Amino acid sequence: MSFCIAIDGPAAAGKGTISKAVAAHFDMPHLDTGLLYRVVGARMLAGLDPIEAAQTLDPADFDRDDLRTPAVAQAASKVAALPEVRAALVDFQRSFARRAGGAVLDGRDIGTVICPDAEAKLYVTASDQVRAERRYLELTEKGQSVTRDQVLADLQERDRRDQSRATAPLKPAEDAVVLDTSQMTIDQAVAAAIAHIQSRRLA
Ligand code: CDP
Repeated sequence: MSFCIAIDGPAAAGKGTISKAVAAHFDMPHLDTGLLYRVVGARMLAGLDPIEAAQTLDPADFDRDDLRTPAVAQAASKVAALPEVRAALVDFQRSFARRAGGAVLDGRDIGTVICPDAEAKLYVTASDQVRAERRYLELTEKGQSVTRDQVLADLQERDRRDQSRATAPLKPAEDAVVLDTSQMTIDQAVAAAIAHIQSRRLA
């Protein structure tokens, strides 16, 4: 039996951390769909046509070590606005979402477009300042040289682009539970997510 857990939200809201913990808790595979767009963005920066890049994804590209850089994040949000790029990635995400035994997907449009009938939907968010601080610590821990102001500007620019695009804009699904993690520790956010999903599993 399949059970799709859709976790959406703006940049650096904690979706990745929560999704990994939820996937481990329920023993389900996890797909970070942002990585698909990051790979397409990175291939565009390398000179490829983004639509062709999305249609010819190469597993080796997922091992690139520049996928988490702000430059690739910006490129990802640009290619993510192209309907042909999104269309090329739909089938893979939908079949992952319906794997037997369940699956966790995180992104921007999982609960609205990829898996509108997901059994559990969460929209994870946090204030701009909190998200920027978390991402700043994440990037500097990896040795990237960025300032807090640059990180904040990057998140806000991507959010604006992601929310205003015509195809699959970032927004909570009508039936998503909104989890504002601004005042929560990671453990509290994970516990809240698991409690909601558990209630949906029993429903
Ligand atoms: O980790 P972070 O939240 O900063 O970004 P990400 O989840 O890796 O996504 C990078 C970019 O890919 C986003 O800014 C979106 O433009 C795009 N994306 C999307 O359009 N749809 C998705 N399902 C996932 C990501």
